[in-house]
Amino acid sequence: MGNKKVTAIVLAAGKGNRMNTSVAKQFLMLGGKPVVYYALKAMEDSSVDEIILVTGRDQKDYCRDHIVKPYHMNKVTQIIEGGKERYDSVYRGLLSICETDYVLIHDGARPFITKEQIENIIHGVIEYNACILGVPVKETIKMVASNGYITSTPDRNKLWAAQTPQAFAYEAIKKAYTIFWQESDNTKAAITDDAMVYEAYLGNSVKVIAGDYSNIKITTPEDLVAAEVLLNTITF
Ligand code: CTP
Ligand code: MG
Repeated sequence: MGNKKVTAIVLAAGKGNRMNTSVAKQFLMLGGKPVVYYALKAMEDSSVDEIILVTGRDQKDYCRDHIVKPYHMNKVTQIIEGGKERYDSVYRGLLSICETDYVLIHDGARPFITKEQIENIIHGVIEYNACILGVPVKETIKMVASNGYITSTPDRNKLWAAQTPQAFAYEAIKKAYTIFWQESDNTKAAITDDAMVYEAYLGNSVKVIAGDYSNIKITTPEDLVAAEVLLNTITF
């Protein structure tokens, strides 16, 4: 992207507990290809300069031999081992980059990210320094106490579901993660996306860019059924 370097971190080191399959969900077959192929392909075909693939120790060879090499994903410069939690995998990805201007952090379990949305998020990060894709929530969301009773109902007009890619100026997000890193495991556990780390540890705001409802994260078994249908409706 011009004279600015853009690096994508694609996360594929999760165990997929909620999916409950023996093969981790990012490697399940979707249209004859492993789920994580699609996100890598979209990044490869975009103006991203470099891709870091983060995966399990025992999955690195599979990724190299069955995805990166055969599909000529030449922008993948490193396949590295992730960590126990998503934030561990992100931090390892950030530390593995030797030099870049902007970083896009993307869930490998979101196969329907398009080249167009990637370009939107790149333009966004150049303009705002930090931005994420998101969509307005469709359902009414309830705050529910541990006893099962509703405690409040946030105004739906203000609620957006956060997606990935989430994009940041590299030095800023690395700094935020480095501070976050010192926190206790309990504090860390409350963090569920990268924008939270950026907001909480740098105090800077993050812009939301309207994404697409089809950019689903494969999380539970019915998401894979939906993904098979979506695969036939999306032109990448
Ligand atoms: N991820 C990762 N390293 C981890 C945990 C998650 O790279 N230690 C990745 C997943 O592979 C996925 C993305 O982060 O692409 C989003 O995480 P999530 O949907 O929570 O995946 P899992 O953690 O694998 O699933 P679950 O939470 O159901 O166990
Ligand atoms: Mg998880």
